[in-house]
Amino acid sequence: MGDFTFAKRMEPITGSAIRELLKLTAKPGMISFAGGNPGNFSLPDEEVAEIIQELLKTNGKNMLQYGPTEGYAPLVYELQKYILEEFGAEVVKDEILPVTGSSQAMDLICKAYLNPGDNVIVESPSFIGNLQCLKIYEANLIPVKSDDKGIIIEDLERLINKYNPKMLYTIPTFQNPTGISMSIDRREKIAELAAKYNMLVAEDDPYHSLRYSGENLPAIKSFDKHGKVALLGSFSKVISPGLRVGFMAGDAALIKKCTICKQSADVHTPTLNQAVVAEFLKRGLLKPNVEKACEVYKQQMDTMLEGLSQIKAVVKYTVPAGGLFIFGEIKEGENVEKYFRKAVDRGVAFVPGSPFHPEGGHENTFRLNFSNSDIDTIKKGMQILKECFDNN
Ligand SMILES: Cc1ncc(COP(=O)(O)O)c(C=O)c1O
Repeated sequence: MGDFTFAKRMEPITGSAIRELLKLTAKPGMISFAGGNPGNFSLPDEEVAEIIQELLKTNGKNMLQYGPTEGYAPLVYELQKYILEEFGAEVVKDEILPVTGSSQAMDLICKAYLNPGDNVIVESPSFIGNLQCLKIYEANLIPVKSDDKGIIIEDLERLINKYNPKMLYTIPTFQNPTGISMSIDRREKIAELAAKYNMLVAEDDPYHSLRYSGENLPAIKSFDKHGKVALLGSFSKVISPGLRVGFMAGDAALIKKCTICKQSADVHTPTLNQAVVAEFLKRGLLKPNVEKACEVYKQQMDTMLEGLSQIKAVVKYTVPAGGLFIFGEIKEGENVEKYFRKAVDRGVAFVPGSPFHPEGGHENTFRLNFSNSDIDTIKKGMQILKECFDNN
């Protein structure tokens, strides 16, 4: 191994125990409830092939040339309509930046906006990838309490008064890892608090359209009258994660700074990929693709929930109205790791819940994904989990 003196800011970044654990799951034939991949069936390869062929035939040189960091103009145009229709937020061209996956939006915000030691309020549990990003930029993470309607506003305001945070990072819809969605009134209240306390809200919403019951909810961004909310969106879960196309919608000054940061990150998101998404939106292909996926995901989720209900050791679990995940608990004081190891030995993987918690602990929790396995595989995997959890 190389003898490197890495940047000091990398010292607390362990590369995560979970990655080590998940290496165990990379065996062929493994039933994986561990990842967050959309189902292969939902990836629109034929439509994308047709679009790419046409783009290369009609606009090939442009597709293969450098493009502006600000994004491929037809995509920005489509995004403006999409953000209004899907998220209820009215934004103008200068408030939108196409990015290389919404992960990049988070990285750019941290790079442009945070100083080492800045206080950032986060949900606990929350998405490991973006918690890691915040840690790399040396943010001080402060967990806020949540319930089945999302962040508890009283606790948020208490923490704001105590820590004067620079930012709140939240996943309001079908949260990763819990699957829980924030209520409309709390969304509105968060936009109000952001303005009152001059706190930026990074609203990460990649699962927004994957809804299996209930009504579409407006984004926090839709209540933002003062440019304090940056909406991070992604086409990874509804078109293709491999295309790496997402967007950020926020105040024009923030977008401008993030655009400068993006110049040195990747110059621009690949033009061909941006154009594919633009065409997908323009041709109205997104809605049917999402509808098809939701129909299947709902059945997969119901099958997994049914399986979970049979496991006696599981004392609590979320019943989401959408998204890709269910979060469960065994008895407090117990550790799921022993069950994890047994399950992996028997060919089933899931993710222990502790690493999703910025403050650690919660070893009795775990996350299951249902989008990436068909119904029969879910039935089989859940039966194995039952045996691993209940036959001690
Ligand atoms: C909450 C959340 N945010 C962001 C992402 C990353 O999305 P992208 O592929 O657009 O970078 C994920 C992916 O799993 C996620 O769960």
